[in-house]
Amino acid sequence: MNQNQTPLLDAVSAFIETRPTYFRIPGHRLDRGISSRWTDRVGTDIFSYDVTETPLTDDLHQPEGAIREAQELLARLYGADQSFFLVNGSTCGNEAMIMGAALEGEEIMIARNAHKSAMMGLILSGARPVYVMPELIPEWAVQGVVTAREVRTCFEAHPDCKALFLVSPSYYGICSDLREIAAVCHEYGALLLVDEAHGGHLYFHDALPAGALDAGADMCVQSMHKVAGALTQSSVLHIRDHGINKPALAKAAENLHLVQSTSPNYLLMTSLDCARYELAQNGNQMMEKALALAAAARSEIQQIPGFRCMDYTDITAKKMTSMSENCPLDRTRLVISAKDLGLTGFGLDKILFEKYAVNMELADYENVLAIVTYANEKSDLDRLINACENIRKIQTEIPDKKKRLANTCPSGLPGLPQQAMTPRQAYFSPKETVRWQDAVGKISGQMIAPYPPGIPIVYPGERISRDIWEYIECFRRDGLHMHGTDQNSRLDYIKIIN
Ligand SMILES: Cc1ncc(COP(=O)(O)O)c(C=O)c1O
Repeated sequence: MNQNQTPLLDAVSAFIETRPTYFRIPGHRLDRGISSRWTDRVGTDIFSYDVTETPLTDDLHQPEGAIREAQELLARLYGADQSFFLVNGSTCGNEAMIMGAALEGEEIMIARNAHKSAMMGLILSGARPVYVMPELIPEWAVQGVVTAREVRTCFEAHPDCKALFLVSPSYYGICSDLREIAAVCHEYGALLLVDEAHGGHLYFHDALPAGALDAGADMCVQSMHKVAGALTQSSVLHIRDHGINKPALAKAAENLHLVQSTSPNYLLMTSLDCARYELAQNGNQMMEKALALAAAARSEIQQIPGFRCMDYTDITAKKMTSMSENCPLDRTRLVISAKDLGLTGFGLDKILFEKYAVNMELADYENVLAIVTYANEKSDLDRLINACENIRKIQTEIPDKKKRLANTCPSGLPGLPQQAMTPRQAYFSPKETVRWQDAVGKISGQMIAPYPPGIPIVYPGERISRDIWEYIECFRRDGLHMHGTDQNSRLDYIKIIN
């Protein structure tokens, strides 16, 4: 197969070149009918590519032409048996994988740092989650890897788990040892499903951790829009059959009909075709650039007194003399802390944006996170470094007494709450609304997830322990953004199940 081709882009272009009189959906008639408010700013050309299933442009839900070819090229590039375009993000891929792997009442192991889309998959499937805890990295107060040892312990207690659903890399770029974990899963006849939403780029450079497919995963999803050059929402699902559970793999693919629009957006799909093309042609140089930019910035930030920038030595005891596929950190991510200068991650994030127009991906109580990609330039990193340097100067002038962290949260994450019912049972149970202040000891009828990263602290059906309540209360008290709250995002009330 020739990775130099872009079958879907070519098919859409060929269709447009017929200069069709258009009586199909979408009704904006290619480049004519979009509000001039918008086209005055962005031009009209791109809208011609917003087409639908035509005789030339194939059909995502029954691909026989250009989309099929584009997906086959994608599969070949990543070493998958089958790959699928997703127009509803990795969210729908995670849902499809979980629904494929575990049916109502069956057990599935889920890493507790999973994105809320895993919880949505559990609601759809009715499966019974068994949670596996990632390690904590206390110096950074972030969740680290899930170890193969922990996975094995969990399988020993729950040998019937149909699959393990794992996030790797995490938002912070932390990668679990998927090879070892895949071996444990397969020993128990279980599938390894990897939410590789943040890892579509790993396959293109040796200094990046191993990708899930290379490490033995049975299925994985990737948000190609996050770091691999596709448009927002454009993701992919890959399947690699290791002979563990063929029907589950087929079911996951079938589930994509259930979780995606019947009018898939051609701009998104074409962006996937083109992102695959770029990665195939230039992936190594693209990642080389991102890695070099991030490495230089990491080293400069580490030298600013009071600032720290996470490196792989912070998360592994292994002595590594060179980068290898076992590196547990995607070093294109910069996790930065200025805690020693009296700034929380949230505080630093706010200053960076409001004073320096430097927009980070996320913040937590301790850190901010920058995602460096091939499309960044040195000038971007210079702005970040200069801003950090300025912030250091300003912060060191503030007397120590006044420098107490503005907002602090109990260090570490709360332990696993008691699961009174499955997320699906909880989702469909009658609910009552009570004041958040009265929630301790109650069974939550909803999830609550600080956003980003969108990792639920409490799932529907779980009893709200005192430490979970206190942890969430920090976010509430500090007015931080959370999903699963009421309309005002204030969490004055919570839905509970009696
Ligand atoms: C770990 C993880 N998985 C899945 C998702 C969902 O991905 P998407 O936005 O492509 O639906 C996200 C989104 O941020 C994520 O961080």
